Amino acid sequence: MNSRKIAVLTSGGDAPGMNAAIRAVYQCGQAMGFEVLGVERGFHGLIKGSFVSFSPQTMDDIVHRGGTVLKSARSEEFKTPDGLNKAWQKLKEADIYGLIVIGGDGSFRGAQTLEERGILTVGIPGTIDNDIPCTDFSIGFDTAVNTIVNAVNQLRDTALSHERIYVVEVMGRHSGWMALYSGIACGADAILLPELPADLSLVCDRLRQSILMKKTHSIVIVAEGVGGDPQARNTEQSSAFQVANFIGKELNNETRVTILGHLQRGGNPTVADRILASQLASRAVELIYEGQSGRMVGVQKGQVVDIPISEVLKHKRTLDERFIRLGELLGAI
Ligand code: F6P
Repeated sequence: MNSRKIAVLTSGGDAPGMNAAIRAVYQCGQAMGFEVLGVERGFHGLIKGSFVSFSPQTMDDIVHRGGTVLKSARSEEFKTPDGLNKAWQKLKEADIYGLIVIGGDGSFRGAQTLEERGILTVGIPGTIDNDIPCTDFSIGFDTAVNTIVNAVNQLRDTALSHERIYVVEVMGRHSGWMALYSGIACGADAILLPELPADLSLVCDRLRQSILMKKTHSIVIVAEGVGGDPQARNTEQSSAFQVANFIGKELNNETRVTILGHLQRGGNPTVADRILASQLASRAVELIYEGQSGRMVGVQKGQVVDIPISEVLKHKRTLDERFIRLGELLGAI
């Protein structure tokens, strides 16, 4: 008789909606006859055997909360054979039949190494970056884009009052998905993406045209991965400041910078993220129940799908050309 215990962990950067996914793993797991345990602090906690049990009470009040009640941590040790062995031992000692990993593609590499050791593993894409291949959306992306758009709505008030240009740096690590979606949604005058060369002279020409047409303030969205040094992110050396300095000098304008930083990682998940989290989590539990393993659940064209993790890790998620074209037609790219 296979063990009826499954475990769930969150790994990598936290994302709004992860708690909704944890709750759905618990609810669906219970419905399918599993005992559901959590692992605190991702793979770091797995190595230490940090299993926690859940109850209806602990699950009662998390669906609407950002972050992850299981916490998350990055683990260099897990990437070593010794660390992997310790994690595997802890899963065997706890008699865990299946492991569900909520995180980004780096987390799925960890899941895959455990799968190769005979642990049923399924991945759920959870990262605000939305840079995981084989799924149209990852948990957290919708909420983060709404956070950006709400922040820009507020910035517009002061930009208009002082007739300024605001350069807003958004997260995404090496991906421009958040910048592209939020730039389109908030009507940005320019969107700079790591996937495309940044032509600041062209940006200034457009902004100059706007000023000539009596447009008194502008918004420029810059993805943190644009140019610059990744270590300089969120600092005065980041690309947003370089862009602002260039524009300010070229247009002789009081250009200001806002770096949204980790605000984008928090907040109550949107309905879209809660629904996505619940759909993906229930399918993940079903796969374990069916004895399937080494797969990631995702959503493609509105349908829940599941794909081999090996396939996911072979690809890099690029931007959708249709949205780039839309940004061009809107005059922002
Ligand atoms: O991967 C999610 C993310 O928020 C990226 O957008 C960002 O570059 C990175 O994590 C920040 O990492 P940390 O939370 O370790 O500063």
